[in-house]
Amino acid sequence: MNEHYPFVNPPLPYAYDALEPYIDTQTMYIHHDRQLQRYVANLNAILSGYPELQNLSLEELLRDPASLPDAVRQGIINYGGGVYNHLIYFYGMTPSETRTEAQALYPAIIRDFGSVERFFDEFKAYALAVFGSGYAWLVVEPDGRLRIVMTANQDTPITNGLCVVAGIDVWEHAYFLKRFTDRAAYIEDWFHVVSWQVANDRYINCINGG
Ligand SMILES: [Fe+2]
Repeated sequence: MNEHYPFVNPPLPYAYDALEPYIDTQTMYIHHDRQLQRYVANLNAILSGYPELQNLSLEELLRDPASLPDAVRQGIINYGGGVYNHLIYFYGMTPSETRTEAQALYPAIIRDFGSVERFFDEFKAYALAVFGSGYAWLVVEPDGRLRIVMTANQDTPITNGLCVVAGIDVWEHAYFLKRFTDRAAYIEDWFHVVSWQVANDRYINCINGG
């Protein structure tokens, strides 16, 4: 992802079929090439008329929506958030199991959730509890502790001063073709492909000031 307007849709860091059998190829293609592409195009269209916003990064655009012009605030929340959230989601998955590489994150999960199993149970409960469309996130609070939060639509945790470690897109477009309405099965699928290496890197960045 380039730093500011005009934003581009970077290619996936793996092949469309790399997450099979957990996330299916057709879903990955449509989700990345059609849906994320549409968010990028709509965000650029909004920013095209606001030169004063064109040098801001996604994080700068989303961190303090109150500072944005009234006419484009919700559009930037929706489409800028859509770009930011999807990039974390897509770049936070991997075809290989790398949980053992989460050397800094693993003890923090034990510290804040008691055990890995309790973390998974709690994360799944949050991801299931999102009403309608949204995301569940593992975030770092300003005091350094891990927490699970959910956001609606394309709202993003960075707007609330939280630093994102990992997140799952639970909009139905992320799983409907394979799992139909069975979100619980999709969450289990995601557990198989979440990149703990990426999450670990993001966690280290968060505790170092994000
Ligand atoms: Fe999505």
